[in-house]
Amino acid sequence: METKVILEMENITKQFPGVKALSGVSLTVHEGEVLALLGENGAGKSTLIKIIAGVQPQDSGTMIFDGQERHFTDPMQAKRAGVSVVYQELTNVPLLTVAENMFINQYGDKNRVLNWKKMYAEAREILQNAGLDIDVKKLISDCNIAEKQQLEIARAVYENAKLLILDEPTSALNTREIAQLLDTIKRLKAQGMAVILITHKMDEIFPVADSVMVLRDGVTVASKPIGEATEDELISLMVGREIKNMYPPKGEVGGEVILRAEGLTNASIRDVRFELRRGEILGVYGLMGSGHLELGKTLFGCFPKTAGHVELEGRELRLTSPKACIERGVAFLPGERKDEGIVQIQTVAVNMMIPSYEKPGSPKRIDARRERQVANKWIEKLAIKTNSHQTIVETLSGGNQQKVILGKWLEIQPKVIILNEPTRGIDVGAKVEIYKILKDMCRDGVSVIMITSEMPELIGMADRALVMHEGALQCVLQRDELTENRIMSAAIGGTGNE
Ligand SMILES: Nc1ncnc2c1ncn2[C@@H]1O[C@H](COP(=O)(O)OP(=O)(O)OP(=O)(O)O)[C@@H](O)[C@H]1O
Ligand SMILES: [Mg+2]
Repeated sequence: METKVILEMENITKQFPGVKALSGVSLTVHEGEVLALLGENGAGKSTLIKIIAGVQPQDSGTMIFDGQERHFTDPMQAKRAGVSVVYQELTNVPLLTVAENMFINQYGDKNRVLNWKKMYAEAREILQNAGLDIDVKKLISDCNIAEKQQLEIARAVYENAKLLILDEPTSALNTREIAQLLDTIKRLKAQGMAVILITHKMDEIFPVADSVMVLRDGVTVASKPIGEATEDELISLMVGREIKNMYPPKGEVGGEVILRAEGLTNASIRDVRFELRRGEILGVYGLMGSGHLELGKTLFGCFPKTAGHVELEGRELRLTSPKACIERGVAFLPGERKDEGIVQIQTVAVNMMIPSYEKPGSPKRIDARRERQVANKWIEKLAIKTNSHQTIVETLSGGNQQKVILGKWLEIQPKVIILNEPTRGIDVGAKVEIYKILKDMCRDGVSVIMITSEMPELIGMADRALVMHEGALQCVLQRDELTENRIMSAAIGGTGNE
């Protein structure tokens, strides 16, 4: 049976100052079809969907949506026509409740008086239909990322979307949450929803996608049914080369203990004790609410401890503030890029230098030449796709913003670097580069605490791993014990034995 074409784009072109983001891109999506859109960081994926959604106009090319030629000039217009987007950086309003966010698009109507009772009841019904067990009066800021995403999808369904676009929806989710999301996509697809799914995780597209399109430097390099594609082939198309080994070989870690935590306790963690050796990569895994994220922040002075202590190189590390930790050579790459990681409206160079000014002995005056040198060094080392060191970070693609954050922390030459989801939103090719850089750093004596929800990354990179459960350290897995089963077993409160 022929299904109806929902979206047809032809010859789309988009130029930004100094960057041709898209040239001659065409695509077709049918009702009930899931199209996986792949490509390196900066390939043009988000730009393409912003054009569909009326956030940015194309320079040339045509778009037919739901049978009509369209040229959406603002996102509300696109939304009303049936295009719903869950963006790479989530857009719900943190200080409003779940229900308020649900109906936020209707607030604009001046003549409508809010009926709170009705609003809560309707919100409850929408959540129930979507199979979500979330309190409608909960503040968005109290929801985790998976909940926020599911809420945005539920809202799209409620608003009768015909095309749902998900821009890297799984980059911040754990294994279980990803499975849930993929189920949601399958359910919507069965109801005839067309879906465009952008992701850097190749393994998750095969179970849900019907077709796949790969962009490279703004040009379509492949567009075919998923059945005709293989993972290796797609990776080569994306990055323009074959990738044999994702993870560098693990060497011996014979270094002395550099950091020792004992009885570390606060509102989120209790009695956490571990040692970190020089040159070691210590993985940290936990499900939502296990305290794994808070452990990282506690070690960087973001949350006060109520008991316990931490020693760095035999001397107490006072966890009073991030500044105090930076001064001792501890760096921290946060998980929430937009809120915690970067100053969006500043240039690449300014962002790169921020932690360096906190380092003892660093000149307190802004030095434009040094800024340029530092920025250019990391732009080259991390292959950051940017026009120049003076580009405003906001205009970089998501993955390239992440690389800027990594660069600014590597610049302080930390002794210990705590990474929270270091490769979130980073493409496969760049991941390989980053893993190599981390491994080289370890060889030079830097120690890494790597909090990650990506199992393959944890298993591929960690020398040992801490698994957290309900605020406590459930077990420490040695290198040869790092298997998916053991990690998961410990994360849900088991012993970590298979
Ligand atoms: N508003 C803007 N101003 C200037 N350049 C921009 C703007 N938006 C995007 N670009 C540039 O266009 C190119 C494509 O960016 P886009 O965000 O579409 O990439 P992407 O494929 O989504 O990458 P990622 O996987 O990192 O999210 C990049 O070089 C980016 O820097
Ligand atoms: Mg993007």
